[in-house]
Amino acid sequence: MAGCTLWFTGLSGAGKSTISGLVEEELRRRGAKVELLDGDVIRDHLSKGLGFSKEDRDTNIERIAFVCALLTRNDVIAIAAAISPYRAGRNLARETIGSFIEVFVDCPLDICVERDTKGLYKKALAGEITNFTGVSDPYEEPQAPELTINTDQESAQESAAKVVRRLEELGYIEPLAADDVYSEDEKAELAKRLADLGYM
Ligand code: ADX
Repeated sequence: MAGCTLWFTGLSGAGKSTISGLVEEELRRRGAKVELLDGDVIRDHLSKGLGFSKEDRDTNIERIAFVCALLTRNDVIAIAAAISPYRAGRNLARETIGSFIEVFVDCPLDICVERDTKGLYKKALAGEITNFTGVSDPYEEPQAPELTINTDQESAQESAAKVVRRLEELGYIEPLAADDVYSEDEKAELAKRLADLGYM
């Protein structure tokens, strides 16, 4: 299988990490080589010390794109999950990488604020954190992403399934054979039910 980069972009709290984690799991289950580069983890290692100025964010995105390019050319499905707020940075990543699938994790700001999973919006709105994306820093929405998922309208599982389906449509992964649609647990459960009904 040829490699590619699945590039998730969206506001903090939109669901990038959750959905990319589910996609990673499903792709592994299907035997693909996968590597997830999550914004928060990258900032603890590869981008340790970088802040949130435009310059630092650009550097962060360039580094993630660089690693994704290496992985992609070695037949890995690289998954990037960083806010990546600037269109130009994402487009540069697209040009560098080539096989690039941009996934816009779309969620209205007020829902992200309401979720406030990390408690950062509260601080940003109180002015305790400056340059916070969506509050006091820009987020430039993608104009032509390969896929948009609306995380305020569907479950993380549904969103992840859409991403995997899009990869199939674009030819980066094989669609599942009919008998692979169910996991081993689900197959066992189905077999049990059929046996209970006297069909097996
Ligand atoms: S990016 O803009 O460079 O792509 P990245 O995804 O790596 O951002 O990091 C964003 C995460 O850092 C957020 O999910 C949040 O937890 C944290 N964070 C801390 N300060 C900020 C800020 N000023 N703006 C956005 N996110 C911030």
